[in-house]
Amino acid sequence: MFRNQEIANDIFYVGVNDRQKHKFENMIPIPNGVSYNSYLINDEKTALIDTVDISFGDIFIDKIESTLQGKKLDYLIINHMEPDHSGSIRMLRKNFPEVTIVGNSKTLSMVEGYYGVTENTMEITDGQTLSLGKHELEFHFTPMVHWPETMMTYDKAEKVLFSGDAFGCFGTLDGSIIDKNLDINRYWDELASYYANIVGKYGAAVQKALKKLTPLEINVICSTHGPIWKEYISEVVDLYDRYSRYSGKNGVVIVYGSMYGNTELMAETVAQGVAEAGVKNIIIHNVSKTDSSVILRDIFKYKALIVGSPTYSNELYPEIESLLRKVEIRGVKNRVFGCFGSFTWASAAVKRLTSFVETMKWQSAQISVDEKQGLKAVNYEACLELGRQVAELMKNHVDDPAHCA
Ligand SMILES: Cc1cc2nc3c(=O)[nH]c(=O)nc-3n(C[C@H](O)[C@H](O)[C@H](O)COP(=O)(O)O)c2cc1C
Ligand SMILES: [Fe+2]
Ligand SMILES: [Fe+2]
Repeated sequence: MFRNQEIANDIFYVGVNDRQKHKFENMIPIPNGVSYNSYLINDEKTALIDTVDISFGDIFIDKIESTLQGKKLDYLIINHMEPDHSGSIRMLRKNFPEVTIVGNSKTLSMVEGYYGVTENTMEITDGQTLSLGKHELEFHFTPMVHWPETMMTYDKAEKVLFSGDAFGCFGTLDGSIIDKNLDINRYWDELASYYANIVGKYGAAVQKALKKLTPLEINVICSTHGPIWKEYISEVVDLYDRYSRYSGKNGVVIVYGSMYGNTELMAETVAQGVAEAGVKNIIIHNVSKTDSSVILRDIFKYKALIVGSPTYSNELYPEIESLLRKVEIRGVKNRVFGCFGSFTWASAAVKRLTSFVETMKWQSAQISVDEKQGLKAVNYEACLELGRQVAELMKNHVDDPAHCA
């Protein structure tokens, strides 16, 4: 029944949209949904590249059958074993018992570990090729983008790169699947969010993969999430390059936690200081209201971060602590930082924020502001000065070349 869209000669889209899941990985809100992309090459031999989340297994099998029209499925190529892509392997094997499962040694051990499948597998090595007839597939291992078994598959005939999660983004594919036929502006923030939240820790591995892929001539990038990239390949590769070098663009993100408004008022004042220094791109997030995935996205996008927190039981405000852990885990680099806080009897928040910036080895403003109880004139002025200082540091900031390798 399905008329699967053809992306390049003999290559069909057999992926699905997920508009049901509220949180990706049970953690990251996806108000605009997500797609699980899978591709079928219908040559003399037939090959499927990755599967989809098992909740869509039935439709997925129907889509494959619609293109095969009774032909057998020869290969399943597995680029990535995360269950949003590997979830339908067992079901696929039941429907196409003769399919050979192709992957590297790490992949095949995960296929056994997750799904108990050991028979009719083919282990391939880095750089190995597999001919389907007109199409010759070449495998490129890209470990830790973002699991150890991750690889990419390159179709030499059509110059298509099946990239796994790399270059992927949140957001469903509504009607069309190819970038130039979609309202692409909807996807840039989805890509930034996907990168920051899912891939963010693995900047060095992404840089290695980008270098390894440089010699390939690429006409199409088929990721496992989001649009198929044809027209915007250079933009998408540039964004991945920039994010994986932790290179932000000019802009100041101010994040604060506040129970009764004292720290919040300081945040507003700091923002005014940033604006006084001529910066227009200022994003203020209340950590208790905006989901941390959105805040992380903006921290990846912009060069400067200013954090404000009340002291809470001798610690940071817990939501701020949790956010900072996420930033630490991702090893975000090359940022300009400022901090402020509010307390009533014994301050602890600003000390913790100061030790955070030392751990991150970021450039920090000289001044920090620590107010006891309500904001008073002296510290009002200090908040303005903090904002101005961070803005000036940001304007002059040059990324550490050690992080651009
Ligand atoms: C549950 C709770 C725990 C707190 N713990 C501390 C503390 O350990 N040390 C301190 O100096 N102030 C403490 N405070 C006071 C707040 O840090 C102070 O009221 C601050 O100005 C609150 O900022 P806000 O108005 O932005 O919420 C605590 C307040 C609350 C509600
Ligand atoms: Fe993944
Ligand atoms: Fe994925």
